[in-house]
Amino acid sequence: MTNNKKILEEKIALAKLGGGQTRIDKQHAKSKLTARERIHFLMDEGSFEEVGILVTHRTTDFGMEKQVFYGDGVVTGYGTVNGRLVYVFAQDFTVFGGSLSETHAEKICKIMDMSMKMGAPLIGLNDSGGARIQEGVRSLGGYADIFYRNVMASGVVPQISAIMGPCAGGAVYSPAMTDFTIMVENSSYMFVTGPNVVKTVTNEEVTSEELGGASAHSTKSGVTHLTAANDIACIAKIKDLLSYMPQSCEDKPAKLPYTIGNETREVLENIVPESANQPYDMREVIEGITDETSFFEIHKDYAENIVVGFARLAGRSIGIVANQPMSLAGVLDVESSKKAARFTRFCDCFNIPLLVLVDVPGFLPGTDQEWNGIITNGAKLLYALSEATVPRVTVITRKAYGGAYDVMNSKHIGADLNFAWPNAEIAVMGAKGASEIIFRREIKSANDPAAKLAEKEAEYAEKFANPYRAAQRGFIDEVIYPKDTRRKLIKAYAMLENKVVKLPKKKHGNIPL
Ligand code: HXC
Repeated sequence: MTNNKKILEEKIALAKLGGGQTRIDKQHAKSKLTARERIHFLMDEGSFEEVGILVTHRTTDFGMEKQVFYGDGVVTGYGTVNGRLVYVFAQDFTVFGGSLSETHAEKICKIMDMSMKMGAPLIGLNDSGGARIQEGVRSLGGYADIFYRNVMASGVVPQISAIMGPCAGGAVYSPAMTDFTIMVENSSYMFVTGPNVVKTVTNEEVTSEELGGASAHSTKSGVTHLTAANDIACIAKIKDLLSYMPQSCEDKPAKLPYTIGNETREVLENIVPESANQPYDMREVIEGITDETSFFEIHKDYAENIVVGFARLAGRSIGIVANQPMSLAGVLDVESSKKAARFTRFCDCFNIPLLVLVDVPGFLPGTDQEWNGIITNGAKLLYALSEATVPRVTVITRKAYGGAYDVMNSKHIGADLNFAWPNAEIAVMGAKGASEIIFRREIKSANDPAAKLAEKEAEYAEKFANPYRAAQRGFIDEVIYPKDTRRKLIKAYAMLENKVVKLPKKKHGNIPL
């Protein structure tokens, strides 16, 4: 063997030591995996090609020249996931805590550039203590180089971030600018500043898990879209998530083979209760409409009054935004508006048709909502849906009241097809509230005000607690039986397959952020 070949062999062996050897047994599958193991489980067997294995840092301060690790704390490269090209980086916590040096950043930037040029998704497996402290501004610059590329790639290729260990400081901002974040429960956390700094600045005592664990970010902040019980489950979720997306904005999501059969679903007839005030689980409606076991929910435990996620309809990938009557009667509030707007924009970026299921009593009133900007935040959803050019279909399953009727993909803001079930109520507000306002004098001067209110309420309900006025105006295209919904939607999306809408020429719009 020539000397150079021998050197290469030694260097590669050393580089692989950094990330630990690939150990594939059941025990390891349950614990925290090394960077190389994570890549091994993510990519199709034998498909991964590493780029930059021999890169080392260039720092000479603080005796760093004596601590040189090949790869510099991140494994980068490309390969396939279920036959599709993807680019990946996996940070290696065993090398300087996965911290980001100038060269570590250059490696990530190189594959980000490739992912954009080739139009294929980018997957980041994050496990990092943030900027490499020994490098000062060079590592901060490295972060900014990545952030800039995250923004340039946004809407061009899907970007998915898995958080598989501590992610502190700058390490959290790149994931925040990608499309989806998945956190591993009990072994990962994300925060800008850790518990020690928090204690010093605010005197708050908080653990890492409380401050930025998967539970906090999936329920309180909404920073993470998904959580997974362990590394293997996290990787499985990444693969599942990818399956609903196209390679890039130039592409459409893959359509799975499907043969049309009897698409009537009787189960949908009995989900919505007779009483307008009784809750029901909108997920049952989603499951009744979509292909079996295809619903992949996003942000499940955050802003539960709206449900969003991907599903398949006759093999076609769709994005669903649905009010959830089980939580706060399905009302729109600050958090649910932000959640739905963000998801809507992802679907629109990547040519995923939207289905909006409506059962909404309106916007949540109150000082808390007003002071937290329900006006601006509600406007986000209104803006996102109005702007979306993908096929857009609406089904009103029960209530569509007030401004929320307009916002939830009404015909007026560009929906392609609007359906309503026969018991739908489409009005400015509920019959009781409406009667109390418009018949106030009549009710007050009546001998029996309660009876008068009931009479007026019934009169108002008779006029508006149905979908027919809206259908007469063409705001609803068809009133359909619940059991026919799946059949109608399959036809609708097939008809809308080649929809083209050109937005007015502009640099970019100014969504109310
Ligand atoms: C250099 C680091 C490092 C860092 C960790 N290490 N973080 N080296 N730069 N940022 C090293 C440690 O010195 C240690 O080396 C090894 O990684 C493992 O770290 P431990 O502390 O032993 O691990 P653990 O107890 O699990 O704690 C992990 C941690 C903690 C919570 C991430 O290391 C930590 O708090 N690190 C600093 C986090 C931070 O403040 N980052 C912000 C940087 S500023 P040895 O040799 O002992 O094994 C920043 C700003 C960017 O990111 C802004 C852009 C917008």
